[in-house]
Amino acid sequence: MEKFIIKGGNPLKGEITVSGAKNSAVALIPAAIMADSPVVIEGVPEIDDVFALIEILKDFNVDVAFNDHVMRIDPTNMKNIPMPDGKIQSLRASYYFMGALLGKYGEGVVGLPGGCNLGPRPMDLHLKGFEALGAEVSNELGAMHLTTNGKGLTGTEVYLDVVSVGATINIMLAASRAKGTTVIENAAREPEIIDIAMLLNKMGAKIKGVGTSTIRIEGVDTMHGASHQQIPDRIEAGTYIAAAAALGQGITVHNVIAEHIESFLAKLREMGVKMDVNDDSIYIHPNDGQLKVVDIKTAPYPGFATDLQQPITPLLLSATGSGHLEDTIYPKRVKHVPELVRMGANIAENNDQITFSGPNQLTGATVTASDLRAGAGLVIAAMMAEGETELYGAGNILRGYDHIDEKLSALGADIQLVQYDDSTVN
Ligand code: UD1
Repeated sequence: MEKFIIKGGNPLKGEITVSGAKNSAVALIPAAIMADSPVVIEGVPEIDDVFALIEILKDFNVDVAFNDHVMRIDPTNMKNIPMPDGKIQSLRASYYFMGALLGKYGEGVVGLPGGCNLGPRPMDLHLKGFEALGAEVSNELGAMHLTTNGKGLTGTEVYLDVVSVGATINIMLAASRAKGTTVIENAAREPEIIDIAMLLNKMGAKIKGVGTSTIRIEGVDTMHGASHQQIPDRIEAGTYIAAAAALGQGITVHNVIAEHIESFLAKLREMGVKMDVNDDSIYIHPNDGQLKVVDIKTAPYPGFATDLQQPITPLLLSATGSGHLEDTIYPKRVKHVPELVRMGANIAENNDQITFSGPNQLTGATVTASDLRAGAGLVIAAMMAEGETELYGAGNILRGYDHIDEKLSALGADIQLVQYDDSTVN
């Protein structure tokens, strides 16, 4: 098991570089298995979710090499082995193997993780899409069994009742190999969806309209190898920008596409954070101690990202005034709140509304990262706090942040990743 020990109060200064997007990588890797020759993806983050996917690919007899953020995936000798349990259940994004296997083979068995720390995370829209394409889907003891009974998929029209990133990508994967044309209406518009479609199109797919709410996919018979540079992680960028705004003495965040986080940057400007946006980087001016609280409501892209709600909370706590925060995508994404209370924050959660007032001086405490983005928020809170914070659940953070301890240490933070023996903890 892993935990972070963070001594707060250090000012941060210098430069930090964002890695490739986690939410792209976890879909690009399953997408690559649809090819019949090697796929090369550049800019892949070194995160635990990616390492787990590599193990799953190996179980499918796919050849993988991963060096210096470049992944070469050779599915030439892939076998569609049923995977009702085991490693495939270790990450939620395994659901992308459903669309990829269904598209490539017309069948597959994929075990999926059960409950999740963000509250309910249904998959009904993914399954509705697969069924509309002609697949039979059954859930047997937590494993999804998908088949077209040898008939293959047929293009269709799918309307997503809720804007869903996962369902949009999964249906796009499957439909790439369907007979005829598929139209996804009310599709999600996240930059990661464009990234996945770009790789699929390089592999031979015919997808149009990504980045709008109507995606049109003309099915193709074969897909081949390709090379692709993936986009940077807008959530990692937002996390480090929030840290820089709270604690920075002048920080440049590199490898950022500013238009991917426009709503986040707008909220920071509303708070009074001064930033210079350049082509590929953002410079965050030193915190002048004059920041004002703002209200935040999350929304599908291009609205304020749910994934940045928890990382921005400590910055809001450092500002003056009272405000509230509402996550309309995952209303139960509030597990950071009691941990921040332990650190002395004036923050509360009631009926899925988070209210807070400040400025707060946080104090180091023993806290737990229940999930990835709650953990990122707690790392920032711990760096802002007086004294030492013991942050358990570091594994949840390493799932999605590439070498976060090394990157923040280089800015001047006092953060250490410590291994411990679980049996010694009550
Ligand atoms: C993805 C991201 C995650 C982000 C989330 C919302 C990945 C790997 N993860 O998750 O980081 O927080 O988008 O931006 O890319 N819903 C349904 N039925 C479904 C699917 C979703 O009702 O079948 C609902 C969800 O409960 C949620 C909303 O749709 O309220 C959006 O979820 P979705 O976009 O699907 O999230 P994920 O793709 O799982």
